[in-house]
Amino acid sequence: MLVTATDGNHGRAVARMAAHFGVGATVFVPVVMLPETAARIVNEGAKVVWVDGDYDDAVRCAAAFAVDQPDRALIQDTAWAGYEQVPAWIVQGYQTLLDEIDTQLGGAPDLVAVPVGVGSLAEAVVRHYRRPSAAHPSVLSVEPDTAACVLASLTSARATTVETAATVMAGLNCGTISSSAWPVLRAGCDAAVTVSDRDALSAVADLDRLGVSSGPSGAATLAGARAALTEPERRAALDLDDDAVIVLLSTEGHTR
Ligand SMILES: Cc1ncc(COP(=O)(O)O)c(C=O)c1O
Repeated sequence: MLVTATDGNHGRAVARMAAHFGVGATVFVPVVMLPETAARIVNEGAKVVWVDGDYDDAVRCAAAFAVDQPDRALIQDTAWAGYEQVPAWIVQGYQTLLDEIDTQLGGAPDLVAVPVGVGSLAEAVVRHYRRPSAAHPSVLSVEPDTAACVLASLTSARATTVETAATVMAGLNCGTISSSAWPVLRAGCDAAVTVSDRDALSAVADLDRLGVSSGPSGAATLAGARAALTEPERRAALDLDDDAVIVLLSTEGHTR
């Protein structure tokens, strides 16, 4: 059986693969998860267990459920001391996305804005664009202002856990940075911003008008790029020309 904790997409993916391999899945979810999000996981054939707590609590429950149980494999997309192999594989998987971006653009962009929960996707972006032979676009971390563990970690120069609160950016609602992501982001992330629910929702509407289906966690990068580029000091720090190519990673379609 596959076991995981999720605030949405990851759990659905694990449930889908468990069904594909016919092994079953148990997915722990925080109490704030939208019922329709949980229903999508159940529809993939998984058992959903509600945890009376936040995402970090759900991760702890999943890990406890799987520990010392040979027939339960923990498939978590965040790392901590002693649990690094599976998250590393997941980060490697994200590289496909970045290879596809480079192929479609015919080269690397100048700035990549990444929606950040625990930082694993951002870790993949930094690893990809900090390879010795690669172009070095700037990497911008974008988090909800209610769950900004990467910004807090970068600001205090140590891995930091923050209290979280409800946000429309459910996929990014994580209070603890992945232990594997932390050294990579500390060394290679150029800037980090937070966005409010209001700004994320207005980015959803703007993308919608352009024909792009994006939920708040995905559209957060448009709001984050705006926050970074409309503030002169931040913009100067990123050192972008007026014709810079900016990639906004939008990781989910409409959520409702
Ligand atoms: C929709 C969405 N976007 C972005 C992310 C960010 O990923 P990470 O937690 O690796 O920072 C997630 C994580 O689950 C997500 O669900």
